[in-house]
Amino acid sequence: MVAVHSTARGPSLGGCRMWGYDDARAAVRDVLRLSQAMTYKAACAGLPQGGGKGVIVLSPGESLAPAARRDVLLDFAETVEAVGGRYRTAEDVGTSDADMAIIAQGTPHVTGLASGSGDPSPWTALGVQVSIEAACERAFGGPGLIGRRIAVVGLGRVGGHLARLLTAAGADLVVADIDPDRRALAEELGARWIAPDEAMRADCDVLAPCALGAVLGPATIPELRCRAIAGAANNQLASDDAAAQLARRGVLWVPDFVANAGGIVNIAVELEPAGYAVERAEPAVRAIGDTVRRVLDDAEARGVTPLAAAMDLARARLAPAAA
Ligand code: NAI
Repeated sequence: MVAVHSTARGPSLGGCRMWGYDDARAAVRDVLRLSQAMTYKAACAGLPQGGGKGVIVLSPGESLAPAARRDVLLDFAETVEAVGGRYRTAEDVGTSDADMAIIAQGTPHVTGLASGSGDPSPWTALGVQVSIEAACERAFGGPGLIGRRIAVVGLGRVGGHLARLLTAAGADLVVADIDPDRRALAEELGARWIAPDEAMRADCDVLAPCALGAVLGPATIPELRCRAIAGAANNQLASDDAAAQLARRGVLWVPDFVANAGGIVNIAVELEPAGYAVERAEPAVRAIGDTVRRVLDDAEARGVTPLAAAMDLARARLAPAAA
């Protein structure tokens, strides 16, 4: 599936997720929601791009043998090609830069190739780190991470890089993943490993959800024991009401589509006329911290949730583009 939510600011960009779904309806819902989030993400980051997303639907627990995986990726490439450049794909959960190289055999509308900006995950992790620093500034009066207790939930590509960055910055980490193999990284970093079902209620300063979405809702919000939340996972709120519930509980939530834009900001550098250069990518990704400050300042000044402030920022940037 390919969903193109908006091209008002430019061709849509969004990763290709390969994941197990109970039925096609669940996958359609996911691809539509994720493509909308990409529109807001690109607009908040000030990128000349729209929002889109790809989903390759597997059955729950299914994994493909190499030949079948290749065929599926080439089918996906045909779908990307069919929308004629209005959608550009990249890695997401379940796909890698090796998969992008296969998709590139069927369509030129592929980013994040090893020959271009490469794996976006370390850049997404950097954007989340600067977002956590901006949240700490607001919640604790300073951006420093030394001794800050941070829970990283999901130690995959982004969560793993983030855990390394936060450890290097002096944070005290608690980590969780449903994949027991990820425990080796926790041990390497000296982080405390806890069970995934305990992770959302870990006693910490900052919670960084870096697995899948819909983790903040009526079941989890009353149990939270953190002061702020900033993470990579897309669509963290089970519904938009969750933003107000978080505010009522005194938890500062950095909108996911602002905090996790590092990957697409890095890819946008690849699409600039001068081509990719890490020297331009790094300051662009670090500027996400300024966007977070702007959103939190605006939310406070207007007495609205950070979600409302971030959506207003995106809408303000989309309206003139669409006119
Ligand atoms: P990944 O698939 O490499 O990592 C996800 C990790 O979460 C895996 O290790 C998985 O075992 C773990 N996990 C799944 N369910 C869990 C649960 N209930 N509790 C604890 N751990 C669980 O994916 P990646 O690329 O690191 O992405 C993570 C999130 O960030 C996703 O929501 C993705 O859409 C989002 N994101 C990723 C970007 C990127 O550059 N890779 C960019 C922007 C958003």
